Formats: sequence, C-alpha cells, structure tokens
Amino acid sequence: MRGLPKNFADLLTAKGRRILEGRDRTVSGALADPRQPFLAIEGALDRAKAAAVWPLLDRSLGPHLVPLSQPIPPDSITGQTRNYQERLRKTARVRTAYLERRRSKAWQAAEHIGLIAMTGSEAYRRFVEVIAGRALAGKFGRQVLCYGPGDYAGPHTDHHPEDPKAAAGYVDFHLTFAGPGVARQYLVYARDGHFSEDVDVATAGGISAYRLPFWHYTTPLKAKPGKAATARRWVVLGTFLYAEAC
Ligand SMILES: [Fe+2]
Repeated sequence: MRGLPKNFADLLTAKGRRILEGRDRTVSGALADPRQPFLAIEGALDRAKAAAVWPLLDRSLGPHLVPLSQPIPPDSITGQTRNYQERLRKTARVRTAYLERRRSKAWQAAEHIGLIAMTGSEAYRRFVEVIAGRALAGKFGRQVLCYGPGDYAGPHTDHHPEDPKAAAGYVDFHLTFAGPGVARQYLVYARDGHFSEDVDVATAGGISAYRLPFWHYTTPLKAKPGKAATARRWVVLGTFLYAEAC
C-alpha cells in the first residue's frame, strides 16, 4: 500500500458504510448511553486494506516516534506509611507521535502517506459523530501510538478538569492496526465502579471509541512466540470535543 485512501469511507466495509450512514442501530448514538463509555466495532474496516496499513505506518511514522515512559514511582511503596493507602499516578510505556504542528517531521510523514487527508475527510468526522450521538467540534486532535511487546497503560481516567472545553468530557476515536506478531492486548474498563469489562483490542483492523473520562487501562501487549519482529500495535487516535463546549 502506497498510501491511505483520501476518504475514510474507502477504508470501510459494507458494514462500516452502514454505520457511517447511521443505519446500524447498535452503533448510532451508542456513547450517548450513560452506561456505555466504550464501544469496540469489529468488521467495519476492510480487512485487506487494514492489513496493509501497519507496515505503512511502521515505515513512514516509525522513525518519528518518541518513547513515552512513566514508570511506577518507587516511593509509591517506600513512601507509604499506612496500610491500604497506596496511590498510583498514571503509568505507561508506549511510543507516540503527536500530529499537532504542520511543520513537524511526523506531520509531514503523516501527510505523505495520506493519513492527514483521510482523518480530515468528512466521513471520518461523521463516523465519530454517529457513534457519539452528539455534534462534535470541527477542530480535533490527531496522534499516533505504537505499542510494542510489554507496552501498556496503567489505570487512568483521561479527565481534563483544567481544560474548560474538555472538562465535561470528550470523545477519543481509535483505529487499530496490529501487526501479525501481536498475540493479544486488552482494554479493561470500569462499569458500575468495578474494572469488570475487557475487550481484546489487538485486531488487524479495528475501531474503538471512548466517551471520556472513565477509568480504564491497557494490558501489556503480548507477542506470538518467535514473532516479536512484527508485534506492534499501531493506533491512529482522533480526539474530538463536543460542539457545544467550543
Ligand atoms: Fe486512556
């Protein structure tokens, strides 16, 4: 694959296009349900096209990734003075490229492979809006993540109470492209106050959407035996604010 389709609709299957047109009742407005902060959709991305995306991202954006490592602070144990009083900030290990500045090398690489055009297409925005069931702001944030073996994100909420436009919530939209060496990686999230829900997000072409904030974590990526060389999960992430907040 030389580049991504300019129009997000061209990456979709018939099922994906039905969702885009608002004709799938299980998906339309799914995140407007207060009990459903998270939705994973299988079979909406064209399998063959999606399989070609991860090597494309690897080649073009791999060189522009920066490591993001927030380990468990040692004093979270040594500084603890009372039983059952442990506190853990957000921990994570993953590589990322923020696509914020047009003049950055990462942005230019993303533009070169059509990632900027595809995520800027009306169908991409519309797809997220259908799931959210609410009008979204025109401007949105782009980022890519790359999880390798052992990479993970510890429990966190993604709540941004200091940002007035995001304080009442926002939507993250993930396109997942896992290489053939990925065995598994789960998104675990809270429902009714317990980490009771999990979804395998290590798909070769998957879609997931998050109505943040809510408690969640991503388990360490596990490689298939002897397949560490292709055990990377790429995530193309779009962050959307609600229109009424902007
Ligand atoms: Fe998160």
